[in-house]
Amino acid sequence: MMKCAVNVLLVSSTPSHSFGLKRHRRSYIMLNWKSLKHGISSISGRKYLPPWFSVAPMMDWTDNHYRTLARLISKHAWLYTEMIVAETIVHQKENLDRFLAFSPSQHPIVLQIGGSNLENLAKATELANSYSYDEINLNCGCPSGKVAGHGCFGVQLMYNPKFVGEAMSAIAANCSVPVSVKCRIGVDDRDTYDELCDFVYTVATHSPTRHFIIHSRKALLKGLSPAENRTVPPLKYEYFFGLLRDFPELQFTINGGITCIDEVHAAQLQGAHGVMVGRAAYNNPWSTLGLVDAAVYGMPNSSLSRRQILKEFQVYGDSFLEKYGPNKPSIRQVIKPLLNIFHSEPGNGLWKRKADAAIRRCTTLNSFLEETLDAIPDHVLDAPPLNKKPSESDAFAGIHELLPSPFGRRELKVSNCKIIF
Ligand SMILES: Cc1cc2nc3c(=O)[nH]c(=O)nc-3n(C[C@H](O)[C@H](O)[C@H](O)COP(=O)(O)O)c2cc1C
Repeated sequence: MMKCAVNVLLVSSTPSHSFGLKRHRRSYIMLNWKSLKHGISSISGRKYLPPWFSVAPMMDWTDNHYRTLARLISKHAWLYTEMIVAETIVHQKENLDRFLAFSPSQHPIVLQIGGSNLENLAKATELANSYSYDEINLNCGCPSGKVAGHGCFGVQLMYNPKFVGEAMSAIAANCSVPVSVKCRIGVDDRDTYDELCDFVYTVATHSPTRHFIIHSRKALLKGLSPAENRTVPPLKYEYFFGLLRDFPELQFTINGGITCIDEVHAAQLQGAHGVMVGRAAYNNPWSTLGLVDAAVYGMPNSSLSRRQILKEFQVYGDSFLEKYGPNKPSIRQVIKPLLNIFHSEPGNGLWKRKADAAIRRCTTLNSFLEETLDAIPDHVLDAPPLNKKPSESDAFAGIHELLPSPFGRRELKVSNCKIIF
């Protein structure tokens, strides 16, 4: 049987941008992921397990407060920041801590940046470098009007893969950690599998990017709100698995519509290198993140009950309130990620109503918890973390029968090298 993988013949090459991974100084993400099969590896000098599971970047959601909570629940999940626009970093040089600082316990953590100005992307990365993120990711998937329309970045960048390659090179040249791209499977009517492959191929050929996170639905720039763009265009996981087949040199993380650990497990069984979960990890952190360490990483789950987690979070929260000035952050902002921690549990409705009233009155997390926690039965508060083995899920059943035709043979001209594959 013919091998499906793309064969790359570099006729006249720029070695640093070729697929010859070993030749590239930033190729270590792949080497790491491979060696990680044999144990813990080191990224930027630290020891972490690989991004087999990550929490998606989500604006206004995956802020410092949510990430603090998430890390109390899972030690090994990789955490993404919300997108930070390059210009914000460049123009807020005096206030960088407010946008970029995080507690060391949040490692492994990925900074997602947004932008389309090469100089600002480079400068922002350089400024962020001293904060020691574990990876820098470029947002090529956001469809919001402000970002993709007016801002000309986010998913708009999928129209210009060569530019994304240049941007990734500029980012990589200004940081000392691996870089990655998060994108959709397409945008508007640029939505064929071959066009997605062109995007991935061109970016990987023009830059050291070896890791792509694929939100497996396309975005429509006109007529849909950002929220609709996360539900209306259909998920096409077959494109993701096509990429896995056609670019064996690269690492791919699947994203979109994965709601529980059984589906995470099913994606891994089908070969996904990593699985990224967004809304489920935010809306139901205990049942999602609480299972990750054991089910995904084969490590012991955290031993903390929710009462203990809330106690630790309260100490963090009360020391963080108004750190950057009046109401920055406000008690509401700090408490927000806690509000989902009792999802579907007895007492959750009453707790939410009490929380709603207490947020208006309380000036500390300590008093907030004192006023509200009696809504939750002790057996819920003190329950040990979940310990459930993933069960069978048919989320990706038959996916290999649906794969698109392998990425075609064609000739692609890339700057000063001609590549035939
Ligand atoms: C409130 C919210 C904010 C988001 N902000 C970002 C963002 O800043 N950057 C990004 O790449 N994706 C963003 N996304 C998209 C998610 O990262 C993810 O791709 C999407 O929600 C699909 O994954 P899910 O089905 O697991 O939620 C956001 C999603 C939500 C719900």
